[in-house]
Amino acid sequence: MSEYYVLANGVKMPKIGYGTYKSTDGSDERIIHMALEAGYRLLDTAAAYENEIYVGKAIKESQIPREELFLTSKVWKTNLGYEKTKASFEESLQRLQVDYLDLFLLHWPKPDPDCKNWKELDRESWRALEEYYHAGKVRAIGVSNFLPHHLEALMETADIRPMVNQLELHVGYMQEAAVQYCKSWGILVEAWSPLGRRRVLEEPIVQQMAKKYQVTPAQFLLRFLLQQGFAVVPKASSPERMRQNLELPAIEITTEDIYLLRCLPQIGWGGEHPDLERVK
Ligand SMILES: NC(=O)c1ccc[n+]([C@@H]2O[C@H](COP(=O)([O-])OP(=O)(O)OC[C@H]3O[C@@H](n4cnc5c(N)ncnc54)[C@H](OP(=O)(O)O)[C@@H]3O)[C@@H](O)[C@H]2O)c1
Repeated sequence: MSEYYVLANGVKMPKIGYGTYKSTDGSDERIIHMALEAGYRLLDTAAAYENEIYVGKAIKESQIPREELFLTSKVWKTNLGYEKTKASFEESLQRLQVDYLDLFLLHWPKPDPDCKNWKELDRESWRALEEYYHAGKVRAIGVSNFLPHHLEALMETADIRPMVNQLELHVGYMQEAAVQYCKSWGILVEAWSPLGRRRVLEEPIVQQMAKKYQVTPAQFLLRFLLQQGFAVVPKASSPERMRQNLELPAIEITTEDIYLLRCLPQIGWGGEHPDLERVK
């Protein structure tokens, strides 16, 4: 299996990255060092994770050449709009101590479900991202948690089509409509919470499948997504789990099992939806 996907603009993006949400516990950079030592080269962070400073510190200390890393960050939903997005992008660069990003995403399409002018806010943010892209400050631009109607609205005025859509995606929450839409426009879908934050790891069907393919449940869930062409950003807190999620045995899941798992009722949804109040 190749280690990269090629985005619509030709940029190569690692298929497996390290998800940093809550990984640093707001404290220091040790866990990021661990992830780099385990072999991760894509780090997924965001202004909202409040850990860019630790990610930046770790990559600087690691002395890994910048071009070997793939750094993703995101502008938070309360900072949508042209000026706020620009300020957020600049702050991310500063905290990460880099002069360009590999991927920058609009984190959510709306500041809140009742927001009336979200289309305008998204379009203005996107204009800022397009400018940074043309200026060579970011190698690829995209969105996160955008459903087809959010993407349609954005693409009405966009000059550049989003290259990536990062979505909650795992066994039990396959977002078929959004995935189909992205595929039809050549937008790579990157799965957040690919393990369903453990809720899915413990499902009996997942445990059975892992046994059948002789891998761990986490490895099975990641392979399931990769085999269908999705990128994944699992988060783990120990070197052993980090490596387990990166060094995946080369299993081939049967089409029958893939369909079976794609047709399950909803399992392990995190409770967040751009158009609805959060479900606890
Ligand atoms: N764009 C968005 O809106 C958005 C939203 C949420 C998340 N994300 C991104 O997606 C990343 C991953 O999502 P997530 O952190 O929510 O959930 P996740 O990666 O699906 O699950 C993480 C959980 O699984 C456990 N785990 C990891 N590897 C394991 C293994 N091999 N065996 C057993 N348990 C294992 C971890 O435990 P330990 O930590 O104890 O090892 C942790 O509790 C985030 O870090 C973030 O970068 C993006």
